[in-house]
Amino acid sequence: MPLENMKSMLSKAAAERYAVGAFNILDYNSTKAVVAAAEELNAPVIIQTSAKTVIFWGTSAIMCWMKELAASSKVPIALHLDHCKDLGLIKECIETGWTSVMIDASSKPFEENLALSRQVVDMARPKDVTVEIELGAIVGVEDDIHVKEQDAHLADPEQAVKLCSRAEPDCFAPAIGTAHGVYKGEPKIAYDRLEEIAKRTSIPIALHGGTGLSDDVFTKCISLGCAKVNISTQLKYAFIDGFVTYHNQHNTEYNPLKVIDAQFDQLKGGIVEKITLFGGTCNSHRGLCT
Ligand code: 13P
Repeated sequence: MPLENMKSMLSKAAAERYAVGAFNILDYNSTKAVVAAAEELNAPVIIQTSAKTVIFWGTSAIMCWMKELAASSKVPIALHLDHCKDLGLIKECIETGWTSVMIDASSKPFEENLALSRQVVDMARPKDVTVEIELGAIVGVEDDIHVKEQDAHLADPEQAVKLCSRAEPDCFAPAIGTAHGVYKGEPKIAYDRLEEIAKRTSIPIALHGGTGLSDDVFTKCISLGCAKVNISTQLKYAFIDGFVTYHNQHNTEYNPLKVIDAQFDQLKGGIVEKITLFGGTCNSHRGLCT
């Protein structure tokens, strides 16, 4: 199937109260692992690229392997640019064929965030590309964005309503107490705020900082309106651990394809668990099977 944008996959997920997993890939092998996991479960999936990953490989190389994997797949796949502050890179991704982009202007004053978010929506919509925007400050490190604990703050519901009604995004990422990277201690999720924002904006919510959250937290956030769940750090760990563990167990072998296979299996296993937990699979009788 050709790549598609996030519009119908997220509205269906929001309506049926499951979430589509959005996984930050690192290379061809990790992309293959995400697609294979989604196919095994017959579930839609979002492949996310951080701005750093896009710059590392270049837009045309990523698009080449994405097109090839999507063409032979029977599940809906969106290609989404995660947290991007650079309008030039957003434009390049849209022109190269990304079907979805995120403008992260959340560190700017409110009116500037609104203006930039709207500008990206106006750039993307004529090309049928969906847009995610952010409000508040999510603690932790994602790509080149570092937010210290003392600078983190939750999204304000009044501002969320104003931002979404004027910028008209397809997906909204309010800071609700989750963190990018590894959690230090128990996360304090502002469920009331999530519920209020989801109800008042009526836009599918993206849950950032998925790595390390408990099953109960995922289930509750999804029941309150999170239709997209972002997972990045988990893939970084599986990517390296898959490689290293195999080599430690077979340290005289030096057969790179076997190491790549072990890495693929480690990545895919974790992704299957998450997609299953998020609920959009045939076994849950939702998602593609309804
Ligand atoms: P984690 O790295 O905590 O999984 O967060 C991913 C994310 O939110 C990407 O935008």
